[in-house]
Amino acid sequence: MPLPYSQACENNKDPILERLQELFVDTYSVLEIGSGSGQHAEHFAENLTHLNWQPSERAEHLSGLNRRIAQASLPNLAPAIELDINRQHLPRQTYDAIFTANTMHIMSWPTVERMFASLDKVLAEGGRLCIYGPFNYAGVYTSASNELFDQSLKGRHASMGIRDIEQVQRLAQRHGFNCLQDFQMPANNRLLHFYSG
Ligand SMILES: C[S@@+](CC[C@H](N)C(=O)[O-])C[C@H]1O[C@@H](n2cnc3c(N)ncnc32)[C@H](O)[C@@H]1O
Repeated sequence: MPLPYSQACENNKDPILERLQELFVDTYSVLEIGSGSGQHAEHFAENLTHLNWQPSERAEHLSGLNRRIAQASLPNLAPAIELDINRQHLPRQTYDAIFTANTMHIMSWPTVERMFASLDKVLAEGGRLCIYGPFNYAGVYTSASNELFDQSLKGRHASMGIRDIEQVQRLAQRHGFNCLQDFQMPANNRLLHFYSG
């Protein structure tokens, strides 16, 4: 059976890695939420050898993800654990950082709120949070392609959609996170870097 694959991941994994090389220089453990195909997890673990990468996914995507992880056979890439933000079975340990890509527009807004409310249980004090994906500014799309993408998301499910950066930042602030950086990334995406504490 072919491994799960995302062309978008192939396109964005190097630009994201370039940022993570700076942001995760003092980070030794990372929990990834919504690892999808595992291409990010594999690429980042392979290139950030000083840290341990813990992928996670909802139950229905775990087997394909874990096939990729087993095939990669990297000492710092753990088998993916089941993690559905709505089911609250969080890992019992804390991590230095949380990374999540392309999940905010897939999760409903109440799920995004739940995710932020859960972070203090899995993130060490002073930990970092990196969120990659498309965002709007005050309801304005950053490109025509993002507008089309948003329409297609809402066609799939009314609860999906590109979020406003300001709304995510306000939510993050309520949970003790400061947005340190908002990087422009290729293909009209952003990488948001938060610090807790
Ligand atoms: C568009 S995919 C992105 C996958 C991968 N991170 C990437 O960038 O290609 C969105 C991911 O969010 C995950 N997701 C959606 N709702 C979730 C939830 N409630 N808890 C955890 N993950 C969730 C999905 O299972 C899916 O893998």
